[in-house]
Amino acid sequence: MAASRKSVTKKIGILTAGGDCPGLNAAIRGVCRAAHDRYGMEIVGIANGFRGLIEENTRILKPIDFSGILTRGGTILGASREKPFKNAESDEPASEKVSAIKDTYTRLGLDCLVVLGGNGTNTTGCKLAREGLNVIGLPKTIDNDIVGTDRTFGFHSALSIGTEAIDRLHSTAQSHSRVIVIELMGHKAGWLALYAGVAGGGDIILIPEIPYDIHVIASHLEERAESGKTFSIVVVAEGAMSMEVEQMSKKDRKKYYLENGPSAAYRVASEIEAQTGMETRATVLGYVQRGGIPSASDRVLATSLGTAAAELLARGEYGRMVALIGNDIGSVDLSVPENKVKNVPADHYMIDTAKAVGTCMGV
Ligand code: F6P
Repeated sequence: MAASRKSVTKKIGILTAGGDCPGLNAAIRGVCRAAHDRYGMEIVGIANGFRGLIEENTRILKPIDFSGILTRGGTILGASREKPFKNAESDEPASEKVSAIKDTYTRLGLDCLVVLGGNGTNTTGCKLAREGLNVIGLPKTIDNDIVGTDRTFGFHSALSIGTEAIDRLHSTAQSHSRVIVIELMGHKAGWLALYAGVAGGGDIILIPEIPYDIHVIASHLEERAESGKTFSIVVVAEGAMSMEVEQMSKKDRKKYYLENGPSAAYRVASEIEAQTGMETRATVLGYVQRGGIPSASDRVLATSLGTAAAELLARGEYGRMVALIGNDIGSVDLSVPENKVKNVPADHYMIDTAKAVGTCMGV
């Protein structure tokens, strides 16, 4: 399709960084279709996140490349957890990576770099903007923990997968009269566990924002058993921890995890067994939550955010992250999500919703 509108931006680079999630390809398609078809921009696909810029691993994207990808999981560009401003994973000084990125950007003749990612990616985008690059960010992650947007794409798909898993655990827990603890991802935030726990009717939901008391959990399980409920489902966010662990120093916590295992679900399951004597099993859902086709809701959000990014590009409004703000698509300054994590606020209505239907939040 021929370009039909005038655009400030002529050539863009696009990359996906951090953990993948459903909806990334839908967002790439949204950016590229609008940028190319509406505005005639040239598009350079950058492989494997910021690593592709450091290594100059890039290719021109033609319409055929972003056709037929709306429903595909993963990312056609590849992703990595390369953090160019940190040098922890390599001997190379961080500044050399940043210089390499700036060189590639200049050599390719880019007018703007579009970064699709989570907190780390948008933080890197913001830092690159301070280094003089034009950058636009898109908020993706199953964790839903980016400040500045009311939702990230990827979250809704992972929520559906987590909910289905909880649904399935109900029948096996009931058959065996067991307590089953399921661990969902979410990094340091409890959005996924809280929403999937409510959607799946979890009896107990444990999130990092509310350190739990194992005695309260044990009492809740015992009360359920006394009232004739033969099984229980406990939904645990990967970052959930007990009140005691929360009080520990970083060093002591590390030691505790080394001794008791890194998985929140297994720790909680063994604490429950020790406290109640109830037969308890643990399930860690893991990367299944990030795989496969995006939900309809994520496709819509990713497409809307992608096309909104193209509008910013056309107007030359750089240094922004596109965002869902209320029911509208808008944007915020890239410094808004920088170095932050959006946790579940203590007064969030979903916590009260969970409690109102009898779910124990661990305290
Ligand atoms: O940020 C997305 C996420 O899936 C988190 O929920 C999880 O903690 C983390 O990524 C896993 O990271 P990795 O892909 O590096 O194992």
